[in-house]
Amino acid sequence: MEQQALPRHIAFIMDGNGRWAKKRGLPRTAGHRAGTQNVMKIVEHCGDLGIECVTFYAFSTENWSRPAAEVNALMSLLGEFLEKNLMRLHTNGVRIRILGEASPRFGEALTATLHSAVELTKNNTKMILNVALNYGGRAEIVRAFKAMHADAEAGKLDFDAVDEKTVQDYLYTAGCPEPDLLIRTSGEQRISNFLLYQLAYTEFVFTPVSWPDFTPERLDEALRDFASRSRRFGGLDKESKC
Ligand code: IPE
Ligand code: IPE
Ligand code: MG
Repeated sequence: MEQQALPRHIAFIMDGNGRWAKKRGLPRTAGHRAGTQNVMKIVEHCGDLGIECVTFYAFSTENWSRPAAEVNALMSLLGEFLEKNLMRLHTNGVRIRILGEASPRFGEALTATLHSAVELTKNNTKMILNVALNYGGRAEIVRAFKAMHADAEAGKLDFDAVDEKTVQDYLYTAGCPEPDLLIRTSGEQRISNFLLYQLAYTEFVFTPVSWPDFTPERLDEALRDFASRSRRFGGLDKESKC
């Protein structure tokens, strides 16, 4: 695949774990386990391809409305994922960042695991792995406004000079280019409060495949689709410019 046709940043909405499990007569948590087991394969494939930044939607601010047992299972699985894969990610030069608000509802063990993952990997430069956890796009924008306001009050920010780049710098994704490609699995065609500001010119791929079945080959298919598109950013194609 040609290098320039590759996205620099891919965002994933990992959807369909529950339906994957239901189809097999298994509890929803079995779907979450299978989905979690799939993440590393996709992360490593992105690393092999030289993608600079990947963002995975792990848990939204709205997902707290699910039954407590499911929420607890999701939190445990995330902790297990990090404990199992942290050293490998670190050795491969991956920097882990958490997008979203820290919450006492994560529990002490997960909070400690998240902290050590971020700390251990903070100087890595091969790839950024953003994990969106207790993340909401609207909440992220509100937080950015508040932080800008506080910095302006403290004399650290000239409010009149705020532009789109300044806003980007106050979002959780600061330091990553905007996502070039968003992939949502399992057939749903919506954003579900993900990266609202950042997705302004992102290309979307919606696949019917559920997240636990989303393989590196499926990712390659999505990348071929991406490479075939004409991104115009409001302008014109080269051939239309004459
Ligand atoms: C995605 O799978 C995982 C999270 C939202 C945490 P779902 O649990 O949403 O699966 P479906 O959409 O019910 O199949
Ligand atoms: C989006 O999936 C959130 C994550 C993948 C973490 P949902 O399953 O929560 O989204 P809706 O409810 O179908 O919009
Ligand atoms: Mg879902």
